Amino acid sequence: MTHTAVELPTQRTPGCPFDPPAELTRISAESSLTPLAFSDGHEGWLATGHTLIRRVLADPRFSSRIELMHSPLPGSQRMEPPAGPGFFISMDAPEHTRYRKLLTGKFTVRRMKLLTERIERVTTEHLDAMERHGGPVDLVAAFAQPIPSIVICELLGVPYEDRQSFQDDVATLFADEDAQTRDEQYEALGALRTYVGRLVAAKRVTPTDDLLSDLTTGELTDDELTGIGVLLLAAGLDTTTNMLALGTFALLRHPDQWAALCAEPELVDSAVEELMRYLSIVPNLARVALEDIELDGHLVKAGSTVLLASSVANRDPAKFADAHTLDLRRNPVGHTGFGHGVHQCLGQQLARVEMRVAFTALAARFPGLRLAVPADEVPLRNAGNSTAIYGASALPVTW
Ligand code: HEM
Repeated sequence: MTHTAVELPTQRTPGCPFDPPAELTRISAESSLTPLAFSDGHEGWLATGHTLIRRVLADPRFSSRIELMHSPLPGSQRMEPPAGPGFFISMDAPEHTRYRKLLTGKFTVRRMKLLTERIERVTTEHLDAMERHGGPVDLVAAFAQPIPSIVICELLGVPYEDRQSFQDDVATLFADEDAQTRDEQYEALGALRTYVGRLVAAKRVTPTDDLLSDLTTGELTDDELTGIGVLLLAAGLDTTTNMLALGTFALLRHPDQWAALCAEPELVDSAVEELMRYLSIVPNLARVALEDIELDGHLVKAGSTVLLASSVANRDPAKFADAHTLDLRRNPVGHTGFGHGVHQCLGQQLARVEMRVAFTALAARFPGLRLAVPADEVPLRNAGNSTAIYGASALPVTW
């Protein structure tokens, strides 16, 4: 079957902030693999089926090297060049394998569970502050942003007091390309590398009790450690924040689900997985074919960029019954919210612990939580850019 190439739909339907763009859902209903027109004239592919996306993510013939990728968004020629040594999210084996092996042991379920008590303390402090302040408050500034930021800073050994500079740089890096120019994004990346590079140099001389110091005792060069530090800081700051903010927004817009979580805190493990599936805050991943590959009856030529639409794969009715319904009891095993295959999120156990602790504590403290503005006035982040991390930039709530 031949299809004409489509452009990537990026616009979510007003009033449906939790759903992928309706046009993307329509395309995915027609075919799980569709030719995709990229802004620079490249013709690649759009994969939307859940099984297909997982197959691509598990196939070493598809590369993660960002410098080989074309961007589907108007105005950009290529994806960014790699951020230098150590930035292993955009590397393939064997380089990727080497870094991943050095880090996997530092992010095990057991190690992350040990952090639970500290995360609970930080969460309680922020809920206390919210209660003292009284509603309405912006849940992003008061809760969703500081908790993951403090935790990743403590884990890595990055001073939280420096956050103003690196938070802004990370936000610039991940921002909608309409809002930030490519030059501003390079500048932000350069500033992050300079900042983390100085920290790494200091930890070589005087190690402290944290992950970056731990890594200075191994085989990694300062440049590699800097790249790893930038990646972990950037990945750890923004993602969990957006899940906490958009997740709370979604729960408040589904009062039966919020009530269920308040009444049955033991639902939280499955609630976190379901929110990851339902919201897919990393809506699209991308890979490049390193050779000609036969996929679902189509020939994907070497050099083709394949966009993997995780947001619609996580709503694939062939995988999830009643896929457009938020159902905290479903436990959606196999969702692609943390990716799949060798690049599957390194920080997922940390993110899970943070989300479980934060959602449980929020529901216990403020069962009467509600939006303090009409739902369509909640400002969304990157709503029109489906290659960036999606979320809410503020969430005014009261109780
Ligand atoms: C809810 C929060 C999070 C979400 C939704 C998320 C999502 C993802 C996704 C989808 C990928 C796969 C990227 C790809 O295949 O191209 C990924 C990779 C990664 N994530 Fe996360 N992440 C989260 C939290 C974190 C945290 C807290 C950390 C930091 C410790 C982290 C560190 C990483 C790293 C280092 C990678 C690259 C792994 C590799 O290439 O081997 N993530 N994440």
